[in-house]
Amino acid sequence: MLSGKIALVTGGSRGLGREIALTMARQGADVAIVYNASDAAAQQVQQEIEAMGRRCCIYKCDVADFDAAKTLTDTVISEMGGVDILVNNAGIVRDGLLLSMKEEDFDRVLSVNLKGAFNLTKSLYRHLMKRSGARIINISSVVGLMGNAGQANYAAAKAGLIGFTKSVARELAARGVTCNAIAPGFIETDMTGALSDKVREGIAGQIPMKRMGAPADVAALAAFLASPAAGYITGEVIRVDGGMAM
Ligand code: NAI
Repeated sequence: MLSGKIALVTGGSRGLGREIALTMARQGADVAIVYNASDAAAQQVQQEIEAMGRRCCIYKCDVADFDAAKTLTDTVISEMGGVDILVNNAGIVRDGLLLSMKEEDFDRVLSVNLKGAFNLTKSLYRHLMKRSGARIINISSVVGLMGNAGQANYAAAKAGLIGFTKSVARELAARGVTCNAIAPGFIETDMTGALSDKVREGIAGQIPMKRMGAPADVAALAAFLASPAAGYITGEVIRVDGGMAM
């Protein structure tokens, strides 16, 4: 389904990004993985993708840094031969009630989750315009739709990403480039792994399906949105949340 395509996945070394990278590779895509922390984790994903017979390059880069993002995308284009699918997945949380939230925690969450998507999309904009059937997929969150006490910074970034998605979708629609957002609910990854059993039980209680989701639930949708079959879907926000935010 994705044969001949090249995907760039930010935050592809673990969690949702890792699963998205592996799923797209399984469907035939070559993949550029962008990460900012663990070299070993990124190398592990690279080996798994190469074992499938697909190309995979890994790049260490802070997506919040505009100049670094520009250098990164130029390097990916020259080393991989282009980018057809951009997945803006890199994200962080720095939770706390607004009363105690530090300015630097607000700024950093906005810089990584929202400006990071701007940096990558802007850097690849001209390139994607010229790639037939290019795709942009932004990983937002149900928290961007509903808000969440203790996550004013994260919710603002994820809600901002939805407005960004719809604006980019409108700008690029006539070029046949789609831009969509996925809004996952609570998914089992390192990001949610730190939650206590009590918090997890409370979360499960709010989910009509009574369980957290798996990275594969999100990756399947990302791969579909990247496929030719999804060519008439743009500016959409799709929840993958077991019914939590309906
Ligand atoms: P994770 O913490 O397991 O992985 C985050 C990835 O982003 C890592 O690969 C990390 O290297 C990368 N990253 C972080 N900061 C970066 C930076 N400045 N530059 C480049 N890469 C950076 O997180 P998880 O759970 O896989 O989340 C992935 C995305 O999905 C995030 O945007 C998150 O906000 C979103 N999300 C996650 C949910 C969940 O329940 N796990 C729910 C809704 C949204």
